[in-house]
Amino acid sequence: MIYPIVVYGDAVLRKRAIDIEQGTDLIQLIQDMYETMHAAHGIGLAAPQIGKGIRLFVVDGTTLEDEPTLMNFKQAFINPVILGEMGTKWQFEEGCLSIPNIREEVSRKEKIRMKYLDENWQPKEEDFDGMKARIIQHEYDHIEGKLFIDYLTPLKKRMLKGKLADISKGDVDTEYRILAPLRK
Ligand code: NI
Repeated sequence: MIYPIVVYGDAVLRKRAIDIEQGTDLIQLIQDMYETMHAAHGIGLAAPQIGKGIRLFVVDGTTLEDEPTLMNFKQAFINPVILGEMGTKWQFEEGCLSIPNIREEVSRKEKIRMKYLDENWQPKEEDFDGMKARIIQHEYDHIEGKLFIDYLTPLKKRMLKGKLADISKGDVDTEYRILAPLRK
């Protein structure tokens, strides 16, 4: 099932998502999240983006032909915790399915260590770097109630204000179905 994607302005994107009880059946939900993400041509999707305030996100970078490091990077993260961020900060242009048609440079540290449960509820502790780390940091922010535009300068934010207001009203072109909080 393909969910509509909740866009900027909805409170669910601003709440810290809650832990999922061990053993909860997430098979269908994870499958639906992959389906929703693929339909929207995304490489990451967090549960709050489909209106669910739980600590779960999926990533799939395997479709990016110019990113060979992501060749096998398709997985779900349940109750993830970033234990540390290391290395030098680097800039990269990010976008977000919940903030359509806006892309901006965001600076993030290059490495992370994290623990999480995989889709079979197996506990993992793993390091990620480069693009993998960046995708995870972006998705992790979603379950912390944070968005990539929070990292922009006050000037940049002011310049985007009108576009963001339009997105909240559903006044934006997307190839996927959205749920806009202020749509009349
Ligand atoms: Ni996003």
